[in-house]
Amino acid sequence: MLKGSQDLTILGIETSCDETAIAVVDASGGLASPKFRVRANIISSQIKMHAPYGGVVPNLAKREHIRNLPIILEQALRKAGIGDPQKEINAIAVTVGPGLEPALWTGITFAQKLTQEWNLPVVAANHMEGHLVTPLLGPRVSKVAFPLIALLVSGGHTEIVLVKSWGKYQVLGETVDDAAGEAFDKVARMLELPYPGGPEISRLARTGNRYSFSFPRPMLQQKNYNFSFSGLKTAVLYQLRDLREQKIPFSKNDIAASFEDAVIDVLMLKTMRAAAEHKAKSIIVGGGVAANTQLRARMRDAVKKEKQNRALYLAPLSMTGDNAAMIAASAYFHAVCDDFANWKKLEAHATLPL
Ligand code: KG4
Ligand code: ZN
Repeated sequence: MLKGSQDLTILGIETSCDETAIAVVDASGGLASPKFRVRANIISSQIKMHAPYGGVVPNLAKREHIRNLPIILEQALRKAGIGDPQKEINAIAVTVGPGLEPALWTGITFAQKLTQEWNLPVVAANHMEGHLVTPLLGPRVSKVAFPLIALLVSGGHTEIVLVKSWGKYQVLGETVDDAAGEAFDKVARMLELPYPGGPEISRLARTGNRYSFSFPRPMLQQKNYNFSFSGLKTAVLYQLRDLREQKIPFSKNDIAASFEDAVIDVLMLKTMRAAAEHKAKSIIVGGGVAANTQLRARMRDAVKKEKQNRALYLAPLSMTGDNAAMIAASAYFHAVCDDFANWKKLEAHATLPL
């Protein structure tokens, strides 16, 4: 039934971190002009539960995923109007990595059960490929031109990827220490802001002066596409220590704005450099940090100023964070190539590369 068909309904399952998510996505158009319709995208966030610990506790995440998955499945099927999954769904997609292994296993075990019950093929999905394809789920996305440069910025990853066609990825550079989102979270903690810190820093930065403190732009001058945010984080730590020790009054908003500006400078400039070097026709920005207002605005400005007619695709704000629609969408590119996994051999991979 599946073979050769380009019109597929895919059920996506995502449990790599602290969101339990299930989605139903209709996909068509094949690799040449993929189109997606999100019929259901249910997310149950555990953020409040992990917040007191200042980060995600893997075993707590695992317990919650196990509890939530059946409930969310029912909600997703109902929302999508699926009465008979075996007949109306063509494939299951489950995130197998990268992520927290105990959390990933819960989604995998759940997917294995459904695969058998409904007799459906399964795609082993890569979480970062999910973030990469998310901009395709936005409204009015026309055919994306290649080559494409993707900036993927999340809590666990920061990478620049060259995409020559869907499913063919070459990582040009990545962080050598902290991910961008992780740096936001750590600096937020220094400022005694709640977890996750990215949205909090971004909120404070809105009314702060980004020229108040001069933080380093790590690796900006290096002619590669790697990042390093650990030194920047330490610079903020020392600055705060000095201010506090010397009892100098300061505004958290100014620290937040100056830190955010440093991160965005590096992300934006390296992405634009990669786009120029590889003559990219399109640029994509995805991952949790893609929700950052300044990053979005500065990427838009940079692309406009450059006058190279590069198209910019930002992940829709409602889908920058972890969700299962992106997992279903990424799986489409594998399903149309018949790239299915043996459900019995599905395994969690904490550091799965793109
Ligand atoms: O992609 P994501 O939801 O989960 C992972 O795959 O890691 O990314 C979460 C990260 C967190 O570090 C969070 O602080 C950051 O994205 N984040 C932001 C913003 N919203 C979320 N960082 C900066 N500005 C934001 N507005
Ligand atoms: Zn993510």
